[in-house]
Amino acid sequence: MSLPKRYLITSALPYANGLKHVGHLAGAYIPADIYARYLRAQKRDVVFVCGSDEHGTAIPIQATKEGTTPRAIIDKYHAAMKQDFEDLSMSFDIYHRTSEPIHHETAQEFFTYLNDRGELEIKETEQYFDEEANSFLADRYIKGTCPNCGSDRAFGDQCETCGRTLSPDELINPVSTLSGKTPVKKKTSHWYLPLGKHEQFLREWILEQHKDDWRPTVIGQCKSWIDGGLQSRAVTRDLDWGIKVPVAGADGKMLYVWFDAPIGYVSATKQWALDNKKEWEPYWYDKDTKLVHFIGKDNIVFHCIIFPLMLKLHGNILPENVPANEFLNLEGDKMSTSRNWKLDMRDYINDFVKQENGGTQCVDMLRYYLTQIAPETKDSEFMWKGFQDAVNSELVSIFGNFVNRTWVLMHKLCGGKVPRLHEELLDDTDRGLVEDIRLARKKIEGLLEEYKFREALFEVIDLSRKGNQYMQKKEPWIVAKQLATNPDAQKSIDNSLHLCLQLTANLAILINPFLPNTARKMLHMMKVVEKMLDWENAGKMNLLSVGYVLREPQLLFRKIEDTEIAAQIEKLKSGLTKMEEPKKEEVKPEVPAKAEIQFDDFAKIDLKIGTILTAEKVEKADKLLKLSIDLGTETRTIVSGIALHFAPEEIVGKQVTVVTNLAPRKMRGIESNGMILMAEDKAGKLHFVQPGSMIDAGSSVS
Ligand code: 2FM
Ligand code: ZN
Repeated sequence: MSLPKRYLITSALPYANGLKHVGHLAGAYIPADIYARYLRAQKRDVVFVCGSDEHGTAIPIQATKEGTTPRAIIDKYHAAMKQDFEDLSMSFDIYHRTSEPIHHETAQEFFTYLNDRGELEIKETEQYFDEEANSFLADRYIKGTCPNCGSDRAFGDQCETCGRTLSPDELINPVSTLSGKTPVKKKTSHWYLPLGKHEQFLREWILEQHKDDWRPTVIGQCKSWIDGGLQSRAVTRDLDWGIKVPVAGADGKMLYVWFDAPIGYVSATKQWALDNKKEWEPYWYDKDTKLVHFIGKDNIVFHCIIFPLMLKLHGNILPENVPANEFLNLEGDKMSTSRNWKLDMRDYINDFVKQENGGTQCVDMLRYYLTQIAPETKDSEFMWKGFQDAVNSELVSIFGNFVNRTWVLMHKLCGGKVPRLHEELLDDTDRGLVEDIRLARKKIEGLLEEYKFREALFEVIDLSRKGNQYMQKKEPWIVAKQLATNPDAQKSIDNSLHLCLQLTANLAILINPFLPNTARKMLHMMKVVEKMLDWENAGKMNLLSVGYVLREPQLLFRKIEDTEIAAQIEKLKSGLTKMEEPKKEEVKPEVPAKAEIQFDDFAKIDLKIGTILTAEKVEKADKLLKLSIDLGTETRTIVSGIALHFAPEEIVGKQVTVVTNLAPRKMRGIESNGMILMAEDKAGKLHFVQPGSMIDAGSSVS
């Protein structure tokens, strides 16, 4: 397959309404940065864009909270986020902002193009209106009682107490947050993107063409959406903050933030082209461009369904892939800004990077751990202890140790120069190491091309592990004791250190996309120029010339102390904001213990682990979800009464325990073949009964 002519890499534009945490960093930014750096090292034509998302109700809401204007909010957080990304070595070619005039023009042109060609439809609906404030109310501006948990602080889009997604109509006793008054329903007209009209295209493009190269979790969410029936989506809002709808008489109407934000990728490319005297059009129109969107899973529908459709209707290219990541939890709990259970990038920068013993090594340490635990296939956990282990037992003890040993021994036994290679004395161990380096490049390359960053990084560390094993086998410090008696001793030392030095140079190239600061430190020690990091050099065994004088070793990474970890955990726990507990309707009586059974009775139940492939609501049945579940050797349809507890799109990809030999049962005309086990906590919330980590679908439970 021929290579694309150019690449356009995007990272989700973060809302400029607050600082972002390391979960965001692991989801949409570090993977994209690794990919962009890898492509640049391959000398491919790549533009990597990002910027602040400065519209939507999130901005005026934050302004109200901070007692200031929306403009002040976006200026403050745009600058802060830009700085944080720079401090963490993100290599965007441009970090733009959607408040720029070039973006407003680009988004309006998009809208006009689609509207003029009849691709949008106008519909009249009734929406909540605050008569006192004389304003329609965005979902977030309506408060009320949650129909699910009874909290009286639920918003029109979500209940923060129980986490349930809501629509304003579901709220009991809705109240406007602007005036505190009960809102009325009022008619309003908006422009809609009719997704249903394009179902055929979306089905073919996503579920056929990309079924094998997009992540299963991404395909699963798309399938759920498409199978659930594609509704028209409003692309305008009644708001006073945003991009004006470019139609005469549409006063007070703005483009919906999810219409304008992804167009931000286009306007950022335009601005980059202007700044660099390049053309932007090929990146968005030429089929030879590979467009890749890096996002978190909550953005899948916008990047896989809505924005691609907008691009298609506007005559642009479509994304080749959308490697969405799942979520990162922190110390066993969901990261949450409202509960202050999070680790902001800024906090890590202040507590580690900006400290006296910090600097860029701490940047790379975080990049390392976040890549190692990247939630590529399922949610994962940031544990401070895990961070410490990853740094101390892998970066320091394996990678750093190998480089340091090589340098110290080269200075001690080879006069600080690259020793020569005595080909006649090469043995199988030496040849094995050379082969390992060649193979590692191939493997890492393949994994990066498939967006498997965790595994690719593992291979780099594994190669340094092999370097340590090689050194341990060759023991040049022991051979040195024979220098007086064995005429080949120096040659043996030369060979092993020559190979270890070439391996170090290779490691610098291979680690560069992941830990760019470490790679540069290694370049400094080797006294070589940046050009050595070109990917084409990986696998070569002549990167350092014989006789070349090298610098003294520098420690690549420092250890993380127990006290630092304890301090972080303490800080996290003491900063936790207690949230209102969900109101309990009544104390449920303890479930009485069931009568004793014999083992044979239990053994009759066939339990297996299954993976949810698709989930969709069952029509006219509030509580039911229709699931298709992968059981390893077969896919089952199971109807489950969990619709009030889980949104279909959030459970795709999750593992569950299935009773597989329950007699089939028809529910709402659908045959259900099995049952999934659920645990109910004291608050009445349901949880899946799952294995501790992802295992093969079809594994039996006993
Ligand atoms: O979820 C978010 O933070 C959004 N601001 C992401 C937008 S991505 C893109 F469309 F710009
Ligand atoms: Zn609730």
